[in-house]
Amino acid sequence: MVNNFIFENATKVYFGKGCVKEYLYCCLKNYGENIMLAYGSGSVKKNGIYDEVVSILHSLGKHITEFSGIMPNPTYQKVLEGAKTAKENNIDFILGVGGGSVMDCCKAISMAAVYKGDIWKDFWERAGVIDFAPLPLGVIVTAAGTGSECNGGAVITNEAKKVKTGRDYPNCNPKFAFIDPIYTYSLPIKQMISGGFDILSHIMETYFSEPNEDNVSDYIAEGLMKSVIHNLREAVKNPQNYTARSNLLWASTMAENRVIKLGKKCDFQCHQMEHQLGAYTDCNHGFGLAVLQPVYYGHIYEYGLPKFVRFAENVWSIQRNDRSDKELAKAGVEALADFIKELGLPVTLKELGMKERKHLKSIAYSCNISQGSYKKMTHDEILEIFNECFE
Ligand code: NZQ
Ligand code: ZN
Repeated sequence: MVNNFIFENATKVYFGKGCVKEYLYCCLKNYGENIMLAYGSGSVKKNGIYDEVVSILHSLGKHITEFSGIMPNPTYQKVLEGAKTAKENNIDFILGVGGGSVMDCCKAISMAAVYKGDIWKDFWERAGVIDFAPLPLGVIVTAAGTGSECNGGAVITNEAKKVKTGRDYPNCNPKFAFIDPIYTYSLPIKQMISGGFDILSHIMETYFSEPNEDNVSDYIAEGLMKSVIHNLREAVKNPQNYTARSNLLWASTMAENRVIKLGKKCDFQCHQMEHQLGAYTDCNHGFGLAVLQPVYYGHIYEYGLPKFVRFAENVWSIQRNDRSDKELAKAGVEALADFIKELGLPVTLKELGMKERKHLKSIAYSCNISQGSYKKMTHDEILEIFNECFE
């Protein structure tokens, strides 16, 4: 049965070469004059995006307050710092320019800048209800991967509590998202691959969950997965392949704009595990997923056998020949593992930078357990997976 749903996506998307030059002016015209321009560690200054955006803000006569230094895996401290800056400067609108980390941090700032209570306690620690308007936010995407531009999710690391988590609050959807494939050309190849794998991971985490009966989402997911696999290969061969970079960006948005999740339970157990690895080690998100995902699927494929058979046949085009369902499903998981190796992604926690197993138990026991998995994990099984991934 396709589960019931209500669907809305409040983000207006401007996609394609030159979109910022063409439309940013009109988009910002109707917002107040105090703009917080938020970005990361400075790549936007090297690749020219900063200059392009600032000149548009100047032509609009906006007053710019800069908020820079948003780190990969943004911290709660950084969110609080941003909220302070926004309040002190009477910010009317936040413009985030960057990848998932910048976008997520900006969403959290947009809430923290107006909420009177403790946002961590009320919206990250437990599911809350946002009955106030966060500061309006718009984003300019510079990396394909998280799909954060079209959802209300903000994944934040609380360093003091050793927790990395986020929830999708529709009120935090950006008002608009600019997605120009050329803006992603300067991304280091390793990061492009990391983001590419993150896209694939989001789609798999949705696909490998009930319902198993015929449903629209699974067909879209198969098309998206094939597109990501093909275009990531093309982008590795030639990072300036506009078609490949465009498809990666749009697949990344499509994977996380809630469309493929409609009617699905969704798993996201691997994301829960990776987020906690991140909370303890600050590892790269896509790299962490690459280490965990095939091993996790090795543990659960028998519980969702028909879907894993479909994955092998429809996504990896593996012929059945005389294989049993179990053998075919396993071949699909192996194809995924081979693709990870082909991309040069890390395959062990050691390669991810972990030196000893000491913290694995604490990390495993701090993971949220997904309710939508084919096989509901226990913390001991998660620990087993971590140990299997270690070296
Ligand atoms: O700091 P800057 O200068 O921006 O450099 C970044 C950073 O070093 C660089 N970069 C980005 N665009 C670039 C560029 N360098 C050169 N040229 C460009 N065009 O890439 C590095 C990584 O950036 P980051 O934003 O951290 O990467 P990503 O987009 O993968 O975001 C990862 C974060 O998003 C969270 C992850 O957990 C992680 O914290 N996620 C957010 C989700 C969401 N909101 O829906 C879902 C995801 O599952 C994920 O959890
Ligand atoms: Zn992800």
